[in-house]
Amino acid sequence: MVSGLEDVVAAETILSDVDGQSGRLIIRGQSLDELVKHATYESVLTLLWEGFFKELPPASDMPMLLGTARQKVFKHFEAADAELVQQPTVDAVRALIARLPDADDIGSALLLVAAPAVFTPGILRLQRKLEPIAPNGKLGHAADMLRMLSGETPTQEQASALDRYLVTVSDHGLNASTFAARVVASTRAGLTSATLAALSALKGPLHGGAPGPVLDALDSIASPEHASTWLQDALDRGERLMGFGHRVYRVRDPRADALKEALKRLTQSGQVDAKRLQLAESVEAAALDLLARKKPNRPLQTNVEFYTALLLEALGIPREAFTCVFAAGRSGGWIAHAREQAVNGRLIRPQSRYIGPTPHQPQQDAAA
Ligand code: ACO
Repeated sequence: MVSGLEDVVAAETILSDVDGQSGRLIIRGQSLDELVKHATYESVLTLLWEGFFKELPPASDMPMLLGTARQKVFKHFEAADAELVQQPTVDAVRALIARLPDADDIGSALLLVAAPAVFTPGILRLQRKLEPIAPNGKLGHAADMLRMLSGETPTQEQASALDRYLVTVSDHGLNASTFAARVVASTRAGLTSATLAALSALKGPLHGGAPGPVLDALDSIASPEHASTWLQDALDRGERLMGFGHRVYRVRDPRADALKEALKRLTQSGQVDAKRLQLAESVEAAALDLLARKKPNRPLQTNVEFYTALLLEALGIPREAFTCVFAAGRSGGWIAHAREQAVNGRLIRPQSRYIGPTPHQPQQDAAA
């Protein structure tokens, strides 16, 4: 048995490759650092879904179709009663996604990508006793997400920063949530079931739930000179430093650099609190130093979640919604993997090794 299935190959895919030794991520033949230079999230959906749907629309239609899908899912706020709204944001969003039809056509796929982008800002507003804002189908996906949250059209820099984030997290090999999606898809359940399983895996703090706690740590550290002591105390208590370490990467996560660049651009246009960024950089340096000394044989580097936290905070997204915004980007990848599994794969059904007690043998009982 391989603990945590580390290094076990459980699927063949044409979607993405995570090279943990050289710190490179390839998404359908393009390296992430190149992809983020030109792609929009809508264009990445076409890239990921090519070959997995009978009627995949041309890339030029994708923004309009995704805009229409956002408008369609908005009506599900009718079901957002007080009990649902009181739940943690990710659970409320998941409950609304569960209302979508469980099919596997392109229309359902678009609804599932639109859903976290629309439900997240709407639930956040309802939690603050504000009305959800209806989508504007003509805006870009990222710009509309920010508008549905604040009610204001975001700046060009803000919209492209969120767009770059969505592209950056769109797919990432056989991570825990994508594996969950593929297991469900392998049973021939629909895309909504696969997406709900994936979102449920994503919300855990070891996966997509880490960036909220990254900000909690920054708040608690408060000033650069406290970083080392605070982090050392956390390690002494046996805690993990959120935003560091990865199952596959042994060098820096390339997504962290893609997001750091987006953050740099926002900083240049005066849209990031410079002190916050300075604190984060001190915390990152101190954490890397302490982790290198604690685990000299296990390189523990900054992962995507560290800069996700700073970027999403700078965009005015509250920390309780970070996992949902991650889901808004990763939904495209989950759907691509679910379709790839359903089209090309077999039922995923591994074995377990029984290590529990065995029943009493009747002969032994009689002899006794
Ligand atoms: N802080 C402190 N110690 C760590 C950290 C960390 N962030 N990450 C790993 N370690 C230690 C472990 O305690 C373990 O030590 P041990 O052998 O003495 O028990 C050793 O390094 C190896 O760690 P594993 O648990 O085997 O590594 P694994 O591959 O299972 O975990 C994970 C990867 C879950 C990401 C881990 O590094 C972690 O918990 N990081 C913090 C949470 C986080 O940032 N998650 C987001 C990941 S990115 C994403 O999912 C999108």
